[in-house]
Amino acid sequence: MKIIVTGGAGFMGSNFIKYALKNHPDWQVVNFDKLTYAGNPENLKEAESNPNYKFIKGDIAKATDVEQAIGEGVDTIINYAAETHVDRSILDPEAFIRTDVLGTYTLLEAVKKFKVAQYIQISTDEVYGSIEEGYFDEESPFEPSSPYAASKAGGDHLCRAYFKTYNLPVVVTHSCNFYGPNQYPEKLIPLFITNLLENKKIPVYGRGDQVREWIYTKDHCRAIEMILAKGKPGDVFNIGTGQEKQNIEVTKFILAELGLDESMIEYVADRPGHDARYALNCDRLKSLGWSPTLSWEEGMRRTINWYKENREWWQKIKSGEYLEYYKKQYKNK
Ligand code: NAD
Ligand code: TYD
Repeated sequence: MKIIVTGGAGFMGSNFIKYALKNHPDWQVVNFDKLTYAGNPENLKEAESNPNYKFIKGDIAKATDVEQAIGEGVDTIINYAAETHVDRSILDPEAFIRTDVLGTYTLLEAVKKFKVAQYIQISTDEVYGSIEEGYFDEESPFEPSSPYAASKAGGDHLCRAYFKTYNLPVVVTHSCNFYGPNQYPEKLIPLFITNLLENKKIPVYGRGDQVREWIYTKDHCRAIEMILAKGKPGDVFNIGTGQEKQNIEVTKFILAELGLDESMIEYVADRPGHDARYALNCDRLKSLGWSPTLSWEEGMRRTINWYKENREWWQKIKSGEYLEYYKKQYKNK
């Protein structure tokens, strides 16, 4: 099987590529990535010598880039590529609309033109908005709060429409928050771990009482692997673990693991439009035979250890040094 993973140089895309190359030696995997600030070729250093792996620099919102890659032949596209950080979307939404909406449209048009057999859209629980009690299921309406969530919802609506109108083989997934190795240190967990490792304070928004549901990278990879095998055109799957935590609980866990106290917390102004709680009903995915394998505590310990052992990776990012590295390495590709 030949798969194009878009956004494969980012956090989850690179974790999935490494998982796929390790567990499926008969798959060929193409990483199609624009290398924005979030795309880091170093995430895939270990894959570079693998004959089943290829990197193509390209933009999902540019039809010529997409058609050139798909024209080489492909069975499945998994679309991880997106602008992903809520705070950036509040400051500057344009790139989100371009990549998350126009980019998804461009990919869907190419799937139609080249008759690609399977397209999987990696999306988020944030499209459903906030829920005080109970759980969102796959029929819950979209009520996005941030420009990020709204642009992901736009892309997801297009996926559903292209299935209904053109019968395209599209599957949409809505996942809870990911955490694990290689997450860009602007998101809550890697930002807090790396700040504390540098003896810097950690900014908790508002009172820190918002609730997020968390999934470790490997469990998400296993969910996508299952959906690749068993998903059918038009399917929609929530991906979650039931591991719900208030942000302040996450914060205190990291502090305790690093032997630090709450004086390192700085309570700062709340995020505008901040969703109070995300929570998913995942019965549909579980009925395929998937369930998460890692406890939140175990996943967090592995994550904290990874950041302790890979200081060079995140220090380059925080200092801006890696931007220079990839500009040189990938200028003409
Ligand atoms: P990330 O920000 O770490 O990486 C995004 C990748 O996409 C980068 O490599 C970037 O270079 C690439 N990219 C951006 N614009 C592109 C374009 N126009 N063309 C080609 N490549 C482009 O993202 P992530 O956190 O790994 O998230 C991956 C996917 O999962 C996204 O679609 C996101 O919406 C979704 N998701 C993320 C989470 C989470 O907690 N991070 C939760 C649920 C769903
Ligand atoms: P984040 O990692 O940005 O993911 P998302 O907004 O997609 O859920 O944020 C997770 C939660 O942590 C969210 O409720 C906002 C909060 N948060 C902070 O309190 N401080 C921070 O510095 C960041 C980045 C997030």
